[in-house]
Amino acid sequence: MARPLRVGIAGLGTVGAAVIQILARQNAVIAQRGGRPVQVVAVSARDRTKDRGFDLSPFTWFDDPIALARSPEVDCVVELVGGSEGSAREVVETALSHGKHVVTANKALLAKHGSALARTAEEKGVTLAFEASVAGGIPVVKTLREALPGNSVSRLYGILNGTCNYILSRMELEGLTFAECLKDAQRLGYAEADPTFDVEGFDTAHKLAILTSLAFGSQIDSEAIYVEGISSIAPLDLAMAQELGFRIKLLGVAERTNTGIEQRVHPTMVPRTSSIAQVMGVTNAVTIDADAVKELTLIGPGAGGAATASAVVADIADVASGAAGAPFGRPVHSLESAPRAPMQRHEGGYYIRLTVHDRPGVAAGVATRMAEADISLESILQKRSETAATKDPHGRSGTPVPLVLITYAAAESAIRSALEEISGDGLIAEPPQVIRIERE
Ligand SMILES: NC(=O)c1ccc[n+]([C@@H]2O[C@H](COP(=O)([O-])OP(=O)(O)OC[C@H]3O[C@@H](n4cnc5c(N)ncnc54)[C@H](OP(=O)(O)O)[C@@H]3O)[C@@H](O)[C@H]2O)c1
Repeated sequence: MARPLRVGIAGLGTVGAAVIQILARQNAVIAQRGGRPVQVVAVSARDRTKDRGFDLSPFTWFDDPIALARSPEVDCVVELVGGSEGSAREVVETALSHGKHVVTANKALLAKHGSALARTAEEKGVTLAFEASVAGGIPVVKTLREALPGNSVSRLYGILNGTCNYILSRMELEGLTFAECLKDAQRLGYAEADPTFDVEGFDTAHKLAILTSLAFGSQIDSEAIYVEGISSIAPLDLAMAQELGFRIKLLGVAERTNTGIEQRVHPTMVPRTSSIAQVMGVTNAVTIDADAVKELTLIGPGAGGAATASAVVADIADVASGAAGAPFGRPVHSLESAPRAPMQRHEGGYYIRLTVHDRPGVAAGVATRMAEADISLESILQKRSETAATKDPHGRSGTPVPLVLITYAAAESAIRSALEEISGDGLIAEPPQVIRIERE
C-alpha cells in the first residue's frame, strides 16, 4: 500500500476532536477505499493541557498553527480554528503556499477569500476542500461540484442556519416570541451568547456565497448578498402564515435572473406542502432547481461535532485517494464575474402585514395604493380587534388592527414605493412587516 497521507490538524475544538475520533475509527475503510491510509501526525490548539478526550502523545504538538502549516512532516493541513482572518487565514495561506493540501470547515474564510485561496491552490497544484463549510454533514458541496455537470442550475435555496430554524420552529409550534425562543436556544447551546451572526442572517450569507459560486460557476461575491435576519418576526406572522398555507423559514436564495445572479438571505414564506417547509428544528436543507433533475432536496444535520467531522473526513479521504478536484469544480480563471442582480429588481410574491387604523376606507385606501403601483393582490385579510371594549356599529374599535396582503409577483421597488405612499397617507400605525414568498 502507498505511503500514508500525513495530516496536521489546526484546531481541536468541537470539530477537530471529532475528526480525530472518526479517523481513528474509520481509517481501515478509508485506506481500502483510497488505496492509502491517513495518519494524523501533528496537531495544534491554544491550550496543550486541556483534556480533549483523547491521547495527544502520538502527535507532534505545535503551539503555533502556522508552524504546523509549514511543517515538512505534514502533507495535508486541516484548518478547524475558525474566523475569516488571523490564525485561520494564515494557516490556510501558509499551507497552500508551501504546496500542502488544505481541508477546512471555515465558511467565513471561504466567503471572504475563497476565490483567492482557490487560485493559490491551483497555482501550487494542491487541493482546497471545504465540504464542512456549508450545512455541516450534508454533502451539498460535493453534489454541486461533482454530481450535476449534466444540469444547468436555475435556483438554489436552503435552510443553512440551525439556530434560526430552531427558533422559528419553536415560535410556530409553541406560539412563543422570538426573544423567548432565543433565550432557550442559548440555554440549550444552539445559539451563541452573542447571537447576532446567526439570527441576523450573516452566517447563512457566508454559506450562500459558497453555494452560489459552486452552482453558477461564478466568483464568490458575498458583498452582493442582500441580508435580513429573523429578529422582527412576530408570533402573529407565524399564525398568519399557517392560516394562509405557508411556513416561515430563514432562507438563503441564489437565482439566475435576467439582470444577473440574485443572492438574498431573508425570512421567507414557503408553501406548507414544500419539502423545505417540512424541515424543523436545527436540521438544515438545500433545494437545487436544475433543468435535468428538476428539484433535488438534501436534508440533514447542519452542525455538531460528529456530523461536521464526517464532511471533513470525506474531504481528507478524497485528498488521500487523489479524487479531490478543483475547489469550485472548474479552473479559477473560468469562474464568471457575474453581474449582481439588485434587490430592488427582485420579483416575487409578498406577504405584507400592515397595522392599520381601524376606520372606514382604510383597506380600500391600501388597495388603491397597491393598484397604482401595479401590484395585484392575491388575498387581503383584515383582523378585527377582539378585545376592544368600544366598537362602532360596524364593529370598528378605533385601535390599530392587522391587515394582511398577499401579492402576486411584483417588483421589490414597486412594493417599497407603495408602502411609502401608504405610510404617507397616514393609514398605518407601525412600520409594515414585509416577508417575501418563495414558491416551488
Ligand atoms: N461546531 C460546528 O458545529 C461547526 C459546523 C460547521 C462548521 N464549523 C466550523 O468549523 C471550524 C471549527 O469550529 P469548532 O466549533 O470546532 O470551534 P471551537 O470548538 O471553538 O474550536 C476551535 C479550536 O481552535 C483552537 N484555536 C483557536 N485559536 C487558535 C490559535 N490562534 N492557534 C491555535 N489554535 C487555536 C482552539 O484551541 P483551544 O481548544 O485550546 O481553545 C480550539 O481547539 C470553524 O470554522 C466553524 O465555523 C463548525
